[in-house]
Amino acid sequence: MKLKDLQRKWWKEGVVYQIYPRSFKDSTGDGVGDLRGIIDKLDYIQSLGVDIIWLNPIYSSPNDDNGYDISDYRNIMTEFGSMSDFDELLAGMHERGMKVVMDLVVNHSSDEHEWFQQSRSSRDNPYRDYYHWWPAEDGEPPRRWSYFDPEANAWKYDATTDAYYLHYFSVKQPDLNWENPKLRAEIYDMMHFWFKKGIDGFRMDVITFISKHDGYPEFPEEYQGQAMIDMYAKGPRLHEYLHEMHEEVLKHYDCMTVAEGPGTHIDNVLDLVSEEREELNMNYHFDHQAIGVGDRFLVNEDFQNLVKFKKVMSDWDAVFNEKGWGTIYFGNHDFSRMVSRWGDDSPEYRRFSSKLLSTYLLSMRGTPYYYMGDEIGMTNIKFDNIEDYQDLMTLNWYELTKQEGGDLDAFMESHKLCSRDNARTPIQWDDTENAGFTKGKPWLKVNPNYAEVNVASQEHDPDSELNYFRKMVKLRKQELCLVYGEYRLLLPEHTDIYAYTRTLDDEVILVLLNQSRNAHSLDLVELTGLEVSGCEVLIDNYENHSEQSALGHLRPHQAKLIRIK
Ligand code: GLC
Repeated sequence: MKLKDLQRKWWKEGVVYQIYPRSFKDSTGDGVGDLRGIIDKLDYIQSLGVDIIWLNPIYSSPNDDNGYDISDYRNIMTEFGSMSDFDELLAGMHERGMKVVMDLVVNHSSDEHEWFQQSRSSRDNPYRDYYHWWPAEDGEPPRRWSYFDPEANAWKYDATTDAYYLHYFSVKQPDLNWENPKLRAEIYDMMHFWFKKGIDGFRMDVITFISKHDGYPEFPEEYQGQAMIDMYAKGPRLHEYLHEMHEEVLKHYDCMTVAEGPGTHIDNVLDLVSEEREELNMNYHFDHQAIGVGDRFLVNEDFQNLVKFKKVMSDWDAVFNEKGWGTIYFGNHDFSRMVSRWGDDSPEYRRFSSKLLSTYLLSMRGTPYYYMGDEIGMTNIKFDNIEDYQDLMTLNWYELTKQEGGDLDAFMESHKLCSRDNARTPIQWDDTENAGFTKGKPWLKVNPNYAEVNVASQEHDPDSELNYFRKMVKLRKQELCLVYGEYRLLLPEHTDIYAYTRTLDDEVILVLLNQSRNAHSLDLVELTGLEVSGCEVLIDNYENHSEQSALGHLRPHQAKLIRIK
């Protein structure tokens, strides 16, 4: 990889920090995070060194799915504040040199959106075709799988017009009909509205699902149940719509776009993100998240299989050698806490492991997406009781498992590892009541480990996960090689170690990550096949440890970045 050949872009060089507003900081005492809470923490966010902030949906919503069910795309959710709060937040981010990326949720709306209210009122209403309807006189509609329906059925019968409507997610999230040009025009218009306010881009929620198969045919046998996701992402007009969106909206702004891409794999992602296609900039995939996790998030023995993980991440990296650009993430509001899913969240190793995982995210090629709270090494809350969960996904799957007489204990154990609520517990700001998140009753329980794991205590500790994260972000900014450099995997079959080099022109950086509790010693010359005349350690998550060790020696969960000369 040569510096002179790079197509440099701010969204390739930036680090994205994701804020789930509901759980970030509550300024009113109602137990729910809000925009003023984020405004209060702007200096903290800036202090992380991150440059792009992705906000989960903040639009008006009845909150069946925490804001992913939007009832008014041009307004702010009452619980979160007002449009003037938003304007202040946006200005505050921009003043501090940070960009703002909003969530765009347009595969579906809320059933409480005016469009749906109209659409369901009569078959000849002008908004009827804003949604997908199947008339009951045609019999039962062909089977479609739903993520959030208690019966996993994506068609819901609606008596008012004697027809079924389609909802890939909950019954309160009817799918919008992109086949209708009027609907598309409304969406493009709404996107202009936000861009004109000054936002810098969109993260596009399940955007790969927007094109439906004409006439809703039965899907082939191998795409039944949850496997339908891959068919949903193969809608015949998906790329036509995204290109149209590019022409109508995106090309008019210096913006960044990222698809949430269920159903994208290494063989089809370039259709979305290759520059010449003029669709989107980036996509994030689920292939690593699927390792060791089956239907309904049931976990199996591959859950932390490092060899499989390395293969998935390396295959994905290779896709973008010539074209397009990738993304790197461990967690977000839909997955577990980074250290509980991918590392070791035991009290003994949690700190090393969190730092190691931050090292990985910030030393891979592709734009890193970092989820709030992971910078202090927050862990899964691991609820014992189903009553503690708020997420409709866990609750519905629990019901389904119960109805089928399935193994509820196994379900509960798996959801301690995988439920989305693990990542949604409030940010632990300090060791006061409710971790300083709210003066009221938090909407979701605070993780009881907040007395040890919190921002305030880590601020003053030079060796904390938080300060390590800041250092690592800074390093990524200084070393263009970490952003653009070619990636080469070493030791693909090693079950404990993830090692690779990044190379840009003459610059080589070796990344050594020991993902285990075992110590290991490596010979760097043998490992890299390079003539190593000198080495400089750029960062080491044991660096403040009294005992220093040889360069190639790795202690449990040790991470090192070494410049090779
Ligand atoms: C995406 C969101 C998730 C939401 C779903 C339906 O996967 O990330 O939180 O529940 O879409 O909108």
